[in-house]
Amino acid sequence: MVRMGQLQTLGDVVRATISLGVEAEALTDAERALVDEHRNGGELPDTASLGAKILAGGDPLGDAYAEIVSATDRRPLGQTYTPSPIIESMLSWAARRPNPGRIVDPGAGSGRYLLAAARAFPDADLVALEIDALSGLMLRANVRAAGLSDRATVVLGDYRSANLAHIDAPTLYIGNPPYVRHHQIDAEWKEWLISTAMARGYRASKLAGLHIHFFLATAEHAREGDYGAFITSSEWMDVNYGSVLRELLLGSLGGTEIHVIEPKSETFTDAMTTGAITCFQIGGAEPSMRLRRVESVEALGGLGLGAEVSRARLAESSRWSVLMRTAVQIPDDHIELGELCRVHRGSVTGANAVWVARPGAVELPESVLFPSVTKARELFKAGERLTEEGDLRRVIDLPVDLDTLSPEDRKLVDRFLRAAKRSNVQDGYVAANRRAWWSVGLRKAAPILATYMARRPPAFVLNDVEARHINIAHGLYPREELSPVILEALALHLRSAVELSQGRTYAGGLTKFEPREMERLTIPDLSQLRAAVEV
Ligand SMILES: C[S@@+](CC[C@H](N)C(=O)[O-])C[C@H]1O[C@@H](n2cnc3c(N)ncnc32)[C@H](O)[C@@H]1O
Repeated sequence: MVRMGQLQTLGDVVRATISLGVEAEALTDAERALVDEHRNGGELPDTASLGAKILAGGDPLGDAYAEIVSATDRRPLGQTYTPSPIIESMLSWAARRPNPGRIVDPGAGSGRYLLAAARAFPDADLVALEIDALSGLMLRANVRAAGLSDRATVVLGDYRSANLAHIDAPTLYIGNPPYVRHHQIDAEWKEWLISTAMARGYRASKLAGLHIHFFLATAEHAREGDYGAFITSSEWMDVNYGSVLRELLLGSLGGTEIHVIEPKSETFTDAMTTGAITCFQIGGAEPSMRLRRVESVEALGGLGLGAEVSRARLAESSRWSVLMRTAVQIPDDHIELGELCRVHRGSVTGANAVWVARPGAVELPESVLFPSVTKARELFKAGERLTEEGDLRRVIDLPVDLDTLSPEDRKLVDRFLRAAKRSNVQDGYVAANRRAWWSVGLRKAAPILATYMARRPPAFVLNDVEARHINIAHGLYPREELSPVILEALALHLRSAVELSQGRTYAGGLTKFEPREMERLTIPDLSQLRAAVEV
């Protein structure tokens, strides 16, 4: 007899389901074929020890399946099994809501959610939906071994086309929808996504993954009063094709909370993805949703926590993870700098010795000489405002099309370029990779310039003289036009509020703010900035 722990082939797994009595169930043709194929292929596993393990909350069949079938081979159906602490967190959230009359586990796999939910809600009916025949056998065997046959229905088929009868009590939808990318989704189902979303007033994209299909299918199956929690990968929060899900959660699916598990903690043992648990209450229209980021699965607790972010604010944002990052510290009247301004590092010249010159040091037309901040100390020295451009070095920024220069200017430029070429400047990596090696391509002047690497907090300097900057500074570029007084209030706030600890510290104590990190700094929102200057 094969002992527990010795399920080493898929045949062993099928035979384990047989020894747990799966043949007494109404099997589909595909399941029956698997049973017939493997029945006589080896010894029957030891039912007693398997059954005991399942009754104790274990999943020996699912564990063996995940061991035997490689992650690559499980990918087409998105077969990643959920660790039990995650299931327990989601169930304790559900336990604080009205008792469900039914539990629906979409994409049930071996039935981890189903069995755990059966223990948590002993009176609820159980429905497991699964498309894969071998998973169907595992599900049925687990249901039998756990003594749940009277309460459970296993439906082998596609969750999207499931037919769930109406019941008078709430249904709890809980599970881990398959993460399958759009390349592996049939064209008809993509059409289904688009037309079903459209019937609800949403625009969906064919690039959406299967987990998004599952959310939409849930919105279709569910009725007011139903509720649920799904764990998925979190990418939908920020990508274009995720907009249909974001809208669904803001609307009829009734999103209540999202918990993102930090990428550094490994949510699933075999899938490199950031997990997000999304809870919803059909018909619920709270004015806000809770967003939370946790460092580890252990920190999930019973869910329910997180900063409240208004639906209006979520509706305006196409990148929810940004709101999530800041939700913890940002009061409602504050935003991230990135919502108001883009932050860009200055251009890289590739050879400052050639392209940066002291005023008067090169004989070139004024039109190609741009007063620029080329050293961080120029910004530290300037204090609050850069008011003098006289001492600033000039960056030589020639047009890509040199024929636009007048003949006299062209003569000066040609002479300069001949000299530059003697130092092989055209072959440097940066020069060789730009549109024209001679054209540095400075960014336009930013109204606020910031240093980003020093042993002191960054300087935020109002750029009164419209100086350009190279890559020793960042430029803050407002996304909408901001009046001089608002810019002043913004720079003032940044100067007083930014601490070194918010950047990244390098060996030797240097602190560096990458543009994206600077965009994450918290600032008062526009109305607060306005109020600050009106006083
Ligand atoms: C991420 S796994 C989750 C398994 C299990 N619920 C768990 O959490 O341990 C997703 C499951 O969905 C199943 N699946 C994939 N496409 C499906 C579909 N269209 N309809 C129903 N189930 C599907 C896969 O076979 C897989 O077992």
